[in-house]
Amino acid sequence: MASIDFHKLRVAEVKRETPDAVSVRLELPAHLRETFTFKAGQHLTFKRDIGGEELRRNYSVCVSPSEGVLKIGVKKIAGGVFSGWVNDALKAGDEVEVMAPHGSFCWDFDPNAQRDYVAFAGGSGITPILSLMKAALTHEPKSRFTLFYGNRTSQGVMFLEELAAWKDRYLDRLQIVHFLEDEEEEIELFNGRLDRPKVEEILTHLVDVASTDVFFICGPGPMMDAIEETLLARGVERPRILIERFTTGPLSVAQAEAARAAEAKAAGLKMSVTLNGRRVNVTFDPAQHSILDNVRAAGLPAPFACKGGVCATCRAKVTAGEVSMKVNYGLSDEELAEGYVLTCQATPVSDGVALTYDV
Ligand code: FES
Repeated sequence: MASIDFHKLRVAEVKRETPDAVSVRLELPAHLRETFTFKAGQHLTFKRDIGGEELRRNYSVCVSPSEGVLKIGVKKIAGGVFSGWVNDALKAGDEVEVMAPHGSFCWDFDPNAQRDYVAFAGGSGITPILSLMKAALTHEPKSRFTLFYGNRTSQGVMFLEELAAWKDRYLDRLQIVHFLEDEEEEIELFNGRLDRPKVEEILTHLVDVASTDVFFICGPGPMMDAIEETLLARGVERPRILIERFTTGPLSVAQAEAARAAEAKAAGLKMSVTLNGRRVNVTFDPAQHSILDNVRAAGLPAPFACKGGVCATCRAKVTAGEVSMKVNYGLSDEELAEGYVLTCQATPVSDGVALTYDV
């Protein structure tokens, strides 16, 4: 399992991008430059105590490695404690705790390649797409990039000026098409959300699907599902579709097989689970896959967010017995040593596992 440590980084600049989104540039001291080397499309995990609770969130970089800066985009989401704090309170000079870049929403750009990239972004999903777009244009001088970017209103378009500047600079290789849900454009195609009928129209009129090498997709879940389904239905092979769901991405075939085998082996193992002072006995059912989903199926409202081993919302402490995890991007070595697990990734290995979310 990868070693996950947090590093203190100072905020160099907080720039307002839209009424509810900012970009945050971080200072990188010389001794952390190597640790924070990143690939376009990756993200950073942040940690902070807010109201006595430790929160962790992932935010994607919006820059390409060649820009020589480390910058993320953060959109304030309704009820989002962390994104609200970043938008409303974080300022230059503050210190934040950040994990080294990780994530697999990446592509190996090759200066000799001549490729066609098509990206679909929705809302703040533009953040990693912007990073990939810049990398494609700067690292592959013969490649072209087309971006379809959906938002509710023109006011909410993140990185609008930056996108326009890149469009001016790469007129012949970059195409950007905006779609607005709540505003009427003259051309009907550019109105409305990026749902399946809209994507069908786009693929019919604006994209040469067969000659497109890679499709990048990041945005709200339903938008991503609609685009993925449409592309698959048109015969685009899965390796040509890269999706960022703000999780760790799918397990490899070998990892998935190992996980299924571990789950099958754990069938019927008894667990004692404590949440909000209530203790419940749960029998592991492989059909539910994780301890988290078994616990929730048993009626305990165990917390979760990403279910991808990233956000650590599902964290619990094992006080007896043994469990294994499929992946872990959210816990430090110290936390692991203390017995914490990500229950969305965990499977019991022994009978009589006891774990508590009340920590
Ligand atoms: S790590 Fe995010 S829900 Fe488990």
